[in-house]
Amino acid sequence: MKLILVGLVVCLSVVYANHLIVGNVANRVVLANQARVEYNAIPFIKRVKYFFYTQPDNRLIQGIQALDTMHSKASINITAGGVGYSYVNLRLKSERGRGLAYDIGIYVQDLFYH
Ligand SMILES: *[C@@H]1O[C@H](CO)[C@@H](O)[C@H](O)[C@H]1NC(C)=O
Repeated sequence: MKLILVGLVVCLSVVYANHLIVGNVANRVVLANQARVEYNAIPFIKRVKYFFYTQPDNRLIQGIQALDTMHSKASINITAGGVGYSYVNLRLKSERGRGLAYDIGIYVQDLFYH
C-alpha cells in the first residue's frame, strides 16, 4: 500500500501539466477556433502572453479547452469573457525560465441541433 502511494506521488509530480478546461467541450458544440500559443523561453524569466478571441457571428462560447502541451508549470487564466460570452481573453504565464506551449480550442453551440 505504501509503495502504491509513493508511486502515485512520483507520477503526479513527473507528469505535470496545467490545462484549463471550462464549460462544455464535448456535446452539441463545434470547434469555432483552434489556436496554438507559443512563446520561447528566456533564462530566469516568466513569460506572459495574452490570447484574445472574439466569435465573429456573436454565438456564445460554450466551452474552452487549453492544453499545456509542454507539460510545464505554466498557468493560464481567463481575464475577461469566457463561457456565456462571445469573446474571451486569456492570460498565460510560463514557469520561470521556460517557454509556453498551449493548444487552445474555443467551442460554440452547434446550430445543427436547433
Ligand atoms: C492566475 O490566477 C492565479 C490566482 O489569482 C495566479 O496565482 C496566477 O499567477 C494567474 N496566472 C496568470 C497566467 O495570470
